[in-house]
Amino acid sequence: MSRFDLSRLPVPVIQGGMGVGVSLGNLAGHVAGCGGMGVISTANPGYAEPDFWQDPGAANLRALTAQIRKAKEIAGGMGMVAINAMVATTRYAETVAAAIAAGVDAVISGAGLPLELPGIPGADRVALAPIVSGGKAANTICKLWHRRFSRMPDFVVVEGPLAGGHLGFSREEAEHPRPLEELVGEVCAALEPWRARYGQEIPVFAAGGVFDGADIARMQAAGAAGAQIATRFIATEECDAAPAYKQRMVEAKAEDVRIVKSPVGMPGRALYSPLIRRLETEGRIPPTRCANCLVPCDPAATPYCITRALIEAVKGNWEEGLFFCGANVGRIQGITTVKTLMQQLTTEWQTARRSKP
Ligand SMILES: Cc1cc2nc3c(=O)[nH]c(=O)nc-3n(C[C@H](O)[C@H](O)[C@H](O)COP(=O)(O)O)c2cc1C
Repeated sequence: MSRFDLSRLPVPVIQGGMGVGVSLGNLAGHVAGCGGMGVISTANPGYAEPDFWQDPGAANLRALTAQIRKAKEIAGGMGMVAINAMVATTRYAETVAAAIAAGVDAVISGAGLPLELPGIPGADRVALAPIVSGGKAANTICKLWHRRFSRMPDFVVVEGPLAGGHLGFSREEAEHPRPLEELVGEVCAALEPWRARYGQEIPVFAAGGVFDGADIARMQAAGAAGAQIATRFIATEECDAAPAYKQRMVEAKAEDVRIVKSPVGMPGRALYSPLIRRLETEGRIPPTRCANCLVPCDPAATPYCITRALIEAVKGNWEEGLFFCGANVGRIQGITTVKTLMQQLTTEWQTARRSKP
């Protein structure tokens, strides 16, 4: 039985989860209100709480619950509200359970294989979606979920190497990307035997460099049900980041984008900024405090504190922030509203589908 009904999304668009604080309740709620899936990132949503550095666990859970309520209120029953939870974060299971208790419709989870996700309290009530980078990971997850939980993913996000934030690819693969359509085809093929076995659709959403409605139609022609789009949503009035972050997205050119090292242990894609320049020359910026947020991070050895760098970015601090963005950021022309962007994507998508040979 699937907990995901595609007809709840009149527009087959998921707004990708963006931490720290870039996609919270305001952005997610407005996307859902326009018939898409709005996604709140669980990466330190409590960064602005006064007790964040003293008790990050409590601050994050409190803020997450409030942001989910806010999103649902704004959405007014339209679309879907989801969270994006990274497997590599500490307090992962506790965070997902709290989000489900607060009423999210779906949990999307990547940055590692979410092998334990269906066992988290409440997971039987919501749609579950792993983020994968290829067919092998999709098959491994299905095999393990089948064996341990007799359950399939309700949908799958395949994130290609043009995405923003952390990447499930090597630097080499990110710099010489395979076409996203190819990855979509590979993931659909890996899911096919499981779809047949469970008699269940497992819709696939393509992410990473999807920019307009024609791209969405192209992904559908490759077998996807829709797309997950993130970077374009930063340049909206409703995005939860500071205006300075949004403006950087508008002004960025393709050549300003870099693949950077992240303490998560994966490469990431971000704008070339003073922080990256400083890391190139100094090698390391030792953390001054620690929120104990990532399982693979050792504060004594980490090249920098990614949480602090992302918090400075969401506040708009160009000098000290790490400004994650996708490879297509250079195509953004200006700041718009979620409603206008969703309408534009829908019109372009419908036009492209009609003109399909
Ligand atoms: C600022 C920013 C922050 C992101 N944070 C997360 C995150 O916390 N967890 C995650 O799984 N993906 C994260 N992503 C990836 C997006 O959810 C999305 O899949 C990807 O960026 C899609 O590509 P696009 O930006 O080209 O549309 C982030 C992306 C950006 C741009």
